[in-house]
Amino acid sequence: MCGIVAVIGSRPAAPLLLEGLKRLEYRGYDSAGLATIKSSSKSSKGFLRCLRANGKLANLMNLVDEKGAPGYLGIGHTRWATHGKPEERNAHPHRDSSGGLAVVQNGIVENHISLRKSLEEEGVHFVSDTDTEVIPHLISRELCLLRSDGQPANSALLLEAVRKVSLQLKGAYALAVLWEEVPDALVVAKKQAPLLIGLGEGEFLCASDTPALAGFTRTILPLEDGEIALLSPLGIELFDSGGNRQQRSPSLLKSQEDEATKRHFRHFMLKEIYEQSEIASLWVDRHLPLGLPGEDPVAFPFRDSFYKGVENIQILACGTSRHAAMVGAYLLEQFAGIPTTVFYASEFRYAPPPLTPNTLTIGVTQSGETADTLSALIMEDQRRKLHGGALFASKQLGITNRIDSSIARQVPYILDIGAGLEVGVAATKTFLGQLLTFYGLAIAFASKRKNRSTHDLITLRDELRCFPSQLHALIRQHDEIAANLAPSFSDTQNVIFLGRGINYPIALEGALKLKEISYIHAEGYPAGEMKHGPIAMLEKYVPVISIATPGLVFEKVLSNAQEAKARDAKLIGVAPEGPVTEIFDVLMPIPEVSEWISPLFSVIPMQLLSYHIAANRGLDVDQPRNLAKSVTVE
Ligand code: AGP
Repeated sequence: MCGIVAVIGSRPAAPLLLEGLKRLEYRGYDSAGLATIKSSSKSSKGFLRCLRANGKLANLMNLVDEKGAPGYLGIGHTRWATHGKPEERNAHPHRDSSGGLAVVQNGIVENHISLRKSLEEEGVHFVSDTDTEVIPHLISRELCLLRSDGQPANSALLLEAVRKVSLQLKGAYALAVLWEEVPDALVVAKKQAPLLIGLGEGEFLCASDTPALAGFTRTILPLEDGEIALLSPLGIELFDSGGNRQQRSPSLLKSQEDEATKRHFRHFMLKEIYEQSEIASLWVDRHLPLGLPGEDPVAFPFRDSFYKGVENIQILACGTSRHAAMVGAYLLEQFAGIPTTVFYASEFRYAPPPLTPNTLTIGVTQSGETADTLSALIMEDQRRKLHGGALFASKQLGITNRIDSSIARQVPYILDIGAGLEVGVAATKTFLGQLLTFYGLAIAFASKRKNRSTHDLITLRDELRCFPSQLHALIRQHDEIAANLAPSFSDTQNVIFLGRGINYPIALEGALKLKEISYIHAEGYPAGEMKHGPIAMLEKYVPVISIATPGLVFEKVLSNAQEAKARDAKLIGVAPEGPVTEIFDVLMPIPEVSEWISPLFSVIPMQLLSYHIAANRGLDVDQPRNLAKSVTVE
């Protein structure tokens, strides 16, 4: 959600900024901009050049080619609009009234209205609708106050002005500031939004996320909340919000940030759907070894003390991660026997349930940066610590695809889903990775709690071990089926997805995928719930996609599908081939597997159908409108 890059060093800044922004474009692509400062041999002051372009980064690249952005110091931004429409005037960097001080920001300044009002009363003229624009004006005002005794401009002044302004900002921010009066200094600060400093050879590159550092450095210094840093050719000076100098050693990135390519695929999303069989194989090999009898059925990096005493689990997540969590909750309750509740992270933070004893709190986030999830975890940790007693002690686990992300620094236990870099904004392979991780957790808890017989544990483990080999063929088969089916959706405006039990979350995920990339209105329901209202929507132009897998609720789902067919709806079944599934107008066949593992199969037709419907409509599948891969604002 907005990407920031800032660089200071001995190489031209603009190419480094553009390269970094390219790798952060998944965070927002409404507009992009950069500012650089060119030093002057005749004066101590430099010259600030600011270029901004609406739309994708390519537009900014063209502008930089045309106009040039000289200098070895610069800041860049790729925007996901919060305050103000995606227009050039709302693109970052934002400048003060002199035009010589520029700021890029990620986050939301929650008190921007009152700050703007007070600045306007002082005569400041605003040119954008953003919350960010208050920041350069506030810094400029602070600089004036600090220089009222005639002090010359210097980097210490800029640092102090930014520090004072940061104390006035409510909400979350990561920001980078340039001032042409000090052409050899860059100031960065952060609170509740990610910001890392990458240490190169004689140069520093700050960024919102690690992909921007690929090829630059593996040595990083992540800023902590409230910290502020002054970067100059001489080095980094780090301070807390009180202005006290901080000493901290840099660390090394754990993950390998490879540059993703589409290979021969038309879109990243399709490539990532195909990658799922390989991810599943790797995951199974890593976590479900064929151990000897009596050995742990799951290889997770946790000791027995992690599992011991856990009586309740609560899971906090958003979007697709929440759907994976719902499958996880089903497994943890029904297979491992632990009461488990899933919450929208954004709701949990402000309306938490009463504390439950001996509770494990799990945050699920592929990006590891989702502000709603991170804030909810912090809140829960704090209230449990405040409560005091051992019974309500805080125990937190993060499930993520990004082991260098904020969640990995925030919670003590981490499970890496190991899906590799996902570029498509619509999550696919990370969803599968999250599901697999929950299977592993459920088996581990069931085994430690002795809630299941060895036979049950081995059966589920062996089914999971066989599943990757079936996946590749299933993906190929549904790629073709979905491509053939997609044109029949060209005028569709509403789609209903139905599922029950462990496949209800997959119906929700199917609906979310379709909405996200094709902009078709879609809703997922528990199949039995349709007759209680949504059935009123049905007519022949509303397709119903029903997941019907053999097991506890098979017949019930088929009856619910019949109810839809009786209302003329076009009925698409995600179900095994057989006489009973002939009721479907179209069958998207999946293998007949146990109900436990059926979500791992039923999600594939959902992903591919959404993909082909969107691609068939000529839409930007990998970067759908209004979305971002990493949602770092609440
Ligand atoms: C998934 O397709 C979506 N882009 C979105 O719902 C996403 O799952 C949600 O924003 C949570 O992201 P996270 O997993 O990075 O926390």
